[in-house]
Amino acid sequence: MVKTNMSKLDILFEKGAEFLGARHAILGGAMTWLSDSDLVSAISNAGCFGVLAGGAMLPKDLEHEINLTSKKTDKPFGVNLITAHPQLSDLVDTVAKTNVKHLVLAGGLPSKEIIEKAKSYGLKLMCFAPILSIGQKLLKMGADALIIEGHEAGGHVGPTALTVLAQEILPSLKDQIVFVAGGIATGSMMANFLKMGAAGCQIGTLFACVKESNAHPNFKKAFFRANARDAVLSIQLDKKFPVIPVRALKNEAYQDFMSLQRQVITEFEAGRLDLKEGQLKIEHFWAGALRRAAIQGDVERGSIMAGQAVGLVKEELSIGEVVSNLTDEAERYLAVQ
Ligand SMILES: Cc1cc2nc3c(=O)[nH]c(=O)nc-3n(C[C@H](O)[C@H](O)[C@H](O)COP(=O)(O)O)c2cc1C
Repeated sequence: MVKTNMSKLDILFEKGAEFLGARHAILGGAMTWLSDSDLVSAISNAGCFGVLAGGAMLPKDLEHEINLTSKKTDKPFGVNLITAHPQLSDLVDTVAKTNVKHLVLAGGLPSKEIIEKAKSYGLKLMCFAPILSIGQKLLKMGADALIIEGHEAGGHVGPTALTVLAQEILPSLKDQIVFVAGGIATGSMMANFLKMGAAGCQIGTLFACVKESNAHPNFKKAFFRANARDAVLSIQLDKKFPVIPVRALKNEAYQDFMSLQRQVITEFEAGRLDLKEGQLKIEHFWAGALRRAAIQGDVERGSIMAGQAVGLVKEELSIGEVVSNLTDEAERYLAVQ
């Protein structure tokens, strides 16, 4: 691209866009059950960078979904894997066999061995950094870029707001590639994080219910009706069974999760379940519950994971319209700065 023709937004996007190989430095954050070949290819075709949610897949399913996505877009896209997956190493091998060049490792610190494996395949590696020192450590271990995700986001979240993480991390990692995530739904917000030094942003909630998303119509309706305050956190009942908080729209599933924890605690205390089995039961709840809402449309007993930005998502637009709204507003905002 000729530098003199670049808009203010293109200049701010430059580092992140080059890293991703996309027109805009905007990642469509992986969303289990939603980030399939249709949504991911649509995001990449709209000039952003789609990321397949591989966290709940087996290697053969992931390979199939990557191949499907490649048939629907000739633009780059990435794959998100969860570090706790029992077949993580095989999944990384699977990604390396395809034309995917970018891997996102989520759900806890990846091991040295996994980072080394991904790097030995030449994959560009993105990892989540909950605090500055862990971000620095991940970069030293070989991560090529970081994502910092705030408490406002949908799905599993950390304890700190993006406004605070950005102030803590961006100034110290000016020369690195850091994407910001959590609560971003307007061009002006995005532009401000870019001006602070972010290389780009990762968006989930704003993209979850676009026309190209295969989310069930009931799931989409619940999204469009919700306000920011409806996107609440799951609660942990006993410190013996730690719960990574999940942000979702408050419904019966919220109560079901409490009942499940109560039942696990009772069974553990009666000696019918050990700690590990109990923990697994608790962790498996959300993936199943999200499928129930997002695919089957049971928006009472299923989980409608959503970030607080859900209050800004009011209608079903195409991904192209959502991206134009974001980038046009960012350009208008930057023009008067
Ligand atoms: C329905 C839903 C499912 C999600 N599933 C995953 C996931 O499987 N893996 C992951 O790393 N992040 C997941 N996320 C987080 C997103 O990738 C993204 O980081 C987050 O949505 C950004 O914040 P925002 O929702 O405020 O835009 C999920 C988010 C939502 C809303």
